[in-house]
Order: sequence, then C-alpha cells, then structure tokens
Amino acid sequence: MIKSNPFTPQSGWEPKIFGGRETQLLDFKKSLEQSVTSHPNHMVVVGEWGIGKTSLLKQYKKISQEHGYPAAYCSISQFADRSRPIDGINLITQEMAFGFPRTKSLSHFLGDIESVGLNMGFISATLKKNKKTRKKLQAQVQFASFLIPLFKSLKAKLAVILLDDIQNLLPISQVIDILRSVLSKDEILSQTKYLFVLASTPEGWAAFIDKHDPVGRFFRRRELISPLTKEQVEVIISKTLKNTGVNFEKQIMERVFSYTQGHPYELQLLCSHLYDCQIEGKVSLKQWEGAFINTLRELGHDYFSSLFKRASERESDVLGILAEKNKPLKIADIRSIMITEKRAKNFPVANIKNFLYRLKDKGLIKRQADNSYHILDPMFAEYVQREKKQD
Ligand SMILES: Nc1ncnc2c1ncn2[C@@H]1O[C@H](COP(=O)(O)OP(=O)(O)O)[C@@H](O)[C@H]1O
Ligand SMILES: [Mg+2]
Repeated sequence: MIKSNPFTPQSGWEPKIFGGRETQLLDFKKSLEQSVTSHPNHMVVVGEWGIGKTSLLKQYKKISQEHGYPAAYCSISQFADRSRPIDGINLITQEMAFGFPRTKSLSHFLGDIESVGLNMGFISATLKKNKKTRKKLQAQVQFASFLIPLFKSLKAKLAVILLDDIQNLLPISQVIDILRSVLSKDEILSQTKYLFVLASTPEGWAAFIDKHDPVGRFFRRRELISPLTKEQVEVIISKTLKNTGVNFEKQIMERVFSYTQGHPYELQLLCSHLYDCQIEGKVSLKQWEGAFINTLRELGHDYFSSLFKRASERESDVLGILAEKNKPLKIADIRSIMITEKRAKNFPVANIKNFLYRLKDKGLIKRQADNSYHILDPMFAEYVQREKKQD
C-alpha cells in the first residue's frame, strides 16, 4: 500500500524530515545558555521567501521547551500604511499572551488582563489622545507593563519569543525600535528574561536598520538562511520517502537538486508532485515532465508571477536572456547577445547596466562576486522562459 503524500509544500507546515541547519540550531542552543546565565542574546533569522524561516522558528520553539523554557511563536500579519505603531504592539502582545503553553498562573494573568482592561482596546484608547512622540512613549510604557507580569506568570528562568515575518511591520517600522528600547530598560532587564528571535526577509531587515540605526546593533546575532546542500536534499528526500512504498530513481534525485538548488519550498513542492505521479511505487524520468509542469504552475500562482510582474518590459528582455542562458553573465556578455541576436527592436543597450541593477533590487536576479549576474534560480528561469514564449 502506498502511503499518503509525505511532502509538505505549505508554508509554515513542519516538514516530516527537517534537514540541515546544524549551525543555526547549535547557535540557538548557545544563545539559550548564554541568555540564562548572563543577558539575553537576541537574534534575527534572515532569509528569502520559502527558504525555511518559519520552519526554523518552530524548531527553536521545540528546543526551548525541551530545555524547560516556554516559547511563544508569533506570526506578524501585514500592516497598512495608515496603521499606527500601537497596532503592531497590540498584535505582538496578543500573540505573545496566547502563544505560550497555558499554565494555571498564565491563565490567571490573562484573566487579570481582561478584568483590568489592560487589553488592546484600552491601550489604543489611551493613546489616541496623545501626540506622536507621547504616543511612542506611551506604547513603550504599556508594553513594559505587560512584559513584567507576563514573565512572572510564566514562572520560568527564560521565556523565548519568536516573531515571524517582521518585514510586515515595515509600514509601522517604529515598532521594532519600541521593542528595542523596551528591552533595554533597566526594569525589564532586572525583572524579566526574554529572548527574542525575529525572522525577516533580507530587504525587510535592511530597511529596518536603515530607518532605525540602533536596531541593527541591538539584534546583533544574525542567522542567514541559505539553500540546503545537495547531500542534505538527498537525505531529506530519502528519509521522507521511507516506508511510504514510493521510490525516486537516482536521476530524479539529481534533477530535483539541479532545478531547486536546495530551495526548501521548491524542493517540497516538486517532490510532492513527483510523488503524486508514481507508477507502481516508482518515480522515474518518465514522470518528470508532468510533475515539473504542475510545480511551475503552482510556483507561478504562489510567487513567480508576482516576481515576474515586477520587471518592466525592457527589464524583462534582459531577464529573458539570463533565463535562457541560466548561467552567470557579465554586462558585456548581455550587450553582445542583445546586439548579435537582435532580441528586441531598438533596445537601449547603453542602459543594460541600469536594468540589471533594478532587476537585482527587485529580487529577480543575483549579482556574483565577480560582477556577473545570475537569474534567481533554475525553476524561475524555466518559468520566465515559458512565460516569454507565450508573449
Ligand atoms: N530544513 C528543512 N528541511 C526540510 N524542509 C524544509 C526545511 N525548511 C523548510 N522546509 C519546507 O520548506 C517550505 C517552506 O518553509 P518555510 O519555513 O515556510 O519558509 P519561509 O518561512 O522562509 O517562507 C515548507 O514546506 C517547509 O516544510
Ligand atoms: Mg514563513
């Protein structure tokens, strides 16, 4: 009997087999120890879409609690430009309050909050009347007066807060600065012990540091999440397939790596489609194309189409060349391809450099150390080529 599909191509779903990330797990354990014995060593996990930030935070939660330190996983939703910092603080307090494993004393505290009205409505009501600077101060005071009793009610040596997708706070970026300044207060340092781990996209984190300089110096420990290695991918796939009744041929394993380059979300999605194509428990190259097309289609809905739409018409012509060649190219290479192959009518070749800069800023291509440019990954290259053919 073939078991149901064991792959997890849903963001935030815990993978059946969590692979790699040894350094990040070790660093976190060190942070836990250090935070307990001296002061908290707040961290930031930085990585692109689908690279495994949420999954890593969930591992962190598990490890913390294994060591006896309660942890709250808090997911930050998107804020609009007209939102106020206090809305962000409200969301964080709410998520924190309900994210910890419930104990009697925590329930008691939460009951108290409701009865004194130190809840979200109360905070915003007090603040509405105040001017902007006062507002920030008030938000700090309120946040501090929430953190202290919450910590007491947890009855632990250390409490861990995992704040996921903080790039969503960018429209109200002061929230991160409020967080920093509250966590630096003497009363918080002496009466509580929280370890904060934030997760963000690289652009998001860069923007916070740009706007609020001290934030970068405060959340000093940074974990940059990269794609998984070929070995890790093979271990993840074979362990995930164990006892399912399905087997991937060696060539399939190799293709999965060569197309996904170890990107965890792409890996899970592609393998999930390959799994669904099994015949008598076997997945061979015959099944590749069907599974691959479905994967691209889904990646298109999820991500690639919005990414691709960021490129202007001219930029997309340059992107098309990088997609087709699927290898690093220098500006001069692209210029000569443009000229000799006459890709687009009246193409302003003198502007190629600018188009490349913009494509890089928009996250569609990467620049290598030797100043050559490479498309995001081979899956995206395939997607772009297929889209451009339809034009
Ligand atoms: N270390 C890992 N090993 C195996 N699968 C992983 C790993 N990290 C993430 N995944 C899988 O990749 C997908 C995307 O991960 P997720 O944590 O949601 O990424 P992000 O939060 O960075 O967008 C999920 O389907 C998850 O199951
Ligand atoms: Mg996530």
